[in-house]
Order: sequence, then structure tokens, then C-alpha cells
Amino acid sequence: MNLWQQQPSELRPAVFLDRDGTLIEDVGALGDPEKIRIYPETVSALRLLAKRYVFFVVTNQSCVAKGEITREEVDGVNKRLGSMLTARGIHITRWYVCPHSREAKCACAKPSPFFLKQAARQYGIDLKKSFILGDHPSDVYTGDAVGTYGLYVMTGHGPRHIHELEPGRIVFHTLHDAARWIMGHPEHVRDLEKSIAQGAEVLRGGGLTVFPTETVYGLGADAYNAEAVKKIFKAKGRPYNDPLIVHVADTGDVDKLAAEVPAKARLLMKHFWPGPLTLVLRKSPDVPDLVTASAPTVAVRMPANPTARKLIATAGCPVAAPSANLFGKTSPTTAEHVRLQLEGRYDALIDGGACRVGVESTVLSLTGTRPVLLRPGGISREALEETIGSVDVPGESGPAEQAGESPGMLPSHYAPGTLFLLVDDASAYAGDEDTGVILFTSPSIAYKGVTRVLSRDGSTAEAASNLYRVMRELDECGLKRIVAERLPRDGVGAAVNDRMTRAAARGTLYKQGPKKAETRA
Ligand code: TXA
Ligand code: MG
Repeated sequence: MNLWQQQPSELRPAVFLDRDGTLIEDVGALGDPEKIRIYPETVSALRLLAKRYVFFVVTNQSCVAKGEITREEVDGVNKRLGSMLTARGIHITRWYVCPHSREAKCACAKPSPFFLKQAARQYGIDLKKSFILGDHPSDVYTGDAVGTYGLYVMTGHGPRHIHELEPGRIVFHTLHDAARWIMGHPEHVRDLEKSIAQGAEVLRGGGLTVFPTETVYGLGADAYNAEAVKKIFKAKGRPYNDPLIVHVADTGDVDKLAAEVPAKARLLMKHFWPGPLTLVLRKSPDVPDLVTASAPTVAVRMPANPTARKLIATAGCPVAAPSANLFGKTSPTTAEHVRLQLEGRYDALIDGGACRVGVESTVLSLTGTRPVLLRPGGISREALEETIGSVDVPGESGPAEQAGESPGMLPSHYAPGTLFLLVDDASAYAGDEDTGVILFTSPSIAYKGVTRVLSRDGSTAEAASNLYRVMRELDECGLKRIVAERLPRDGVGAAVNDRMTRAAARGTLYKQGPKKAETRA
């Protein structure tokens, strides 16, 4: 039987893979097979996916058009990579190469799904049940016209271009995380919608739903249902004196939750919502005391993550939610992090991939005469001040104390189990094998221990998105200590430093010289 005679039920689903920055390190024009560096997660990811999918590589090699390498060299690299994968039991059905420049508007160039259609014709592929994975927004958009679902990985150029990616697109730290998501969501859009609908049903029924936001995963309950909210505190082991943030999908909900909404709040909502900014306002009597720890104020925020907003809108109630971790522990930035700590303590979990911002929202109080920054977070103090003028910070000189610190801002928080130290320069630990080192950017010296770089490009935003994952990874390595270098304070850097300071407070804070602090612990 010819392939074109196949019935739709016989069509196979495929995963289309970008090559550079997705399967292998992106080293620029790659003409020498000796320079191929396969990512550590590539093989395990493809083995997982091979249970259901056939593979195609779709790669743009504009370096050919630029004359940097020849088409033959590209084919040579593909051939070698193909045999490296075959040796590990992985078969790539076909390699599609677009050798034109990105500006050429050729038929094969992304985001045209030319190669996808060709694969569908020649190999009987069901494009609507297929996925395309890449580290550039154009990779992710390639399948849109034919219903192939695009997923973004933050390897390769992923971190550099993430701000160009539409907010509704799902992102992952690694190819393996993406593979796990695909295996759990074979019908992609439909499965995600089903999971949102179930999560909303659980909320309406007084249960707990874990959901992704752009900052961290939240453990949510109907904010107007005190019994449901009580379950959050129990599941986390959270003290009742630590109030919760109420998440909304519509600014109209704020008028019902707050007794009054000052002009500055409206201005901030217009500028930064949906997004990682929480506003503390005077509360309406309808908000249960349990949510606000009996305070006369309520914290509200509208998350940027479209899945979160859809959940809240579908549930039809504002959602009270703290970060979905055990009290005092590191916040979760993937669904897997949540499962590891809270499995069995919630009724539904919506897996929306990795959280893009990676640290919690900024909490700003607007209940006093002046705005007070209660917690640094995803929106910087400078950005707030550009919109509403000066913002006080507790502890700094000035009349900040009037609003007090946020009750949840304990000096010790976000703590890994391993001794955690915060330093300005980690090089004193370079010779220690049993030390985990968290560096802001690529080091200029060699470290003997386990190192993790938060951002090769020196971006504080990228560093924030990696922080909690890296803290968790190093915590699992059985190390004697973890040493982290302080970040520059610009943008979200201040929030990252704040979280690392609190993680360090559990052990001891580095003050004078490296290692001295430890002996005082
Ligand atoms: O990014 C975030 O804000 C995440 C996601 C899930 O939205 N949520 C989060 O929630 O970080 P949680 O519970 O881990 O932190 C809430 C912070 C705490 O420091 C709490 O004390 C403070 O907000 N907060 C809540 N209500 C408050 C209130 N009425 N007055 C002052 N601070 C409040
Ligand atoms: Mg790429």
C-alpha cells in the first residue's frame, strides 16, 4: 500500500528536533565532526520519546549561505551525529537542512513548515499529534500552521531569546524535561486544556490545585473558601500567621477583594499586570481571615502565565496560593520539583513546564502613606519607582517601619539541606572537591568541586530562572557545602541575592573572610 493511501489512524506521530542548541551545543558554524558536543540530556530524552515517536532533525544552517562552511561539511556533521545516536539506540528518520540565510525567504526556512509537510507526505506523519522542539522562537512557531506543537528549551540560544517568545509558549530547562512533558501530554493542547478544566473543578469543589505561574509553582485554593484555604497550610506545614497571596485573572476582582484601591495601585496594575508584582491593599470583609492571617490587608496579584489565568478564570474564583513547596524550603520552578516535595498533598497538578522568571513576585504594600517594598522579586524597585516615585524599603533609613516587614519574610527561608554560604568571590573554594559552587557567569579559573553557572551571558534574569533548580541539583549531590556568589544588584539581581541570603541564614552568613564564617556556625 502506498503511504498516501494510509488511513489517518495509521499515521505516526513525530518529534521534529532542532540540532544546534537543542541536541548538541551551539558552537556557531559547525563543519568539523570532532567538535560535536551532545548535551548530557539528549540521549535520555530521545530514548524516552522513542517509545512513541519517530524523529526528524530540522536544522537551519545559514552559515552555508554565508560561505562559512559547505553543505558537504554540514552533511558530514549530521552523518557523524547520526551514527553517534545510532550507537546509543536512537534512529533519526531524516535530516532536513535549510542552507539559506534567514533573510532569504526560501521555501524551507522557518517558520514555514515546508519540511514538516514533506515528512508527513513521505513518512505518513500525523502532524497534529507531533511536536517540534528548539532553542529559538522561530523553531517553536514552525509547526503552528499545521497543528504541530512547539516547545522551547532553554539550552543553546534559548536564554538569550526567551524574552522574544510569546507568553503562552511552554518552556523547559532541558530536552529531557520537554520529553517528559510530551509523554504526559500526547494530545498537547487538548491535554493541557483538560488538565486546566480538572484543576478548576478541584478548586470549585474546595480542593487544592498546583499550577504554574511565571515566578514559581503555586499551591492554590478558592480564596473565599476558608476550609479549602486551611488545607494549604496543612499541606505545606505553614504557620497560620503567614498570609497568602490571592491570584486574580481580572482586575475587576481586585475591587471585590480590597476595601479600596489607591491611585498608585491602579497605575501599577496598568503597568505591571499581568506579571510578578503583588500589591498589599486594605482588605474587604469578604476575604477570610485565614487568607490574610487576620491582618486588615490582602495581597493580590495577576500572574502573567496564561495557564494560571485560564485556571482562575475557569474556576470563577480568586485563588489563594503560596509557592508549592514545604514551608521554609526551596520554591519549585518545575512540576517535577512539586511532585518530589508535595506528592499526595494536593488534588490536581497542572504541568506547564518551567517558570520563566524563577523567583517569586515583588511584594509592595500600598496601605500606608508611602509605598513599602516588602519583598524584592520579579519586578525591580527601580522599575516600580519609575512608575510611582519613591518606594521605601524596611531597614533602610526613612519612615519604612510603619508598614512593617512581610510576615512571611523570615531571615531563614528557601533553604537547601546542605550548608549554604553566600560570598562575593568563590575562588577561595576552587580547590575543594566536596564544595558545590554557584557562579553568576563562566569562571576564569578552574574549580575542583561541582560548579553551576547561572548565566553564561551575565544576565540577572537568566540567573533568576536557574537559581532554584541549581540549588536543588547541588543539594542532591551529597556535598559538604554549597558556596554561591552574590549577583550584581541590577534588575532581578537584588531578588536573587535576597533569596540566597535567606538560604544562607540557615547555616551561617558569610561576613568577613571565606571559610571563617563556617567555623562560627
Ligand atoms: O510569585 C509569587 O508571589 C508566588 C506565586 C505562586 O504567585 N507566591 C508566593 O507566595 O511566593 P508565598 O506565600 O510563598 O509568599 C507570599 C508572601 C509572604 O512573604 C507573605 O508574608 C506576603 O507575601 N504576604 C501575603 N499577604 C500579605 C499581607 N496581607 N501583608 C503583608 N505581606 C503579605
Ligand atoms: Mg537552535
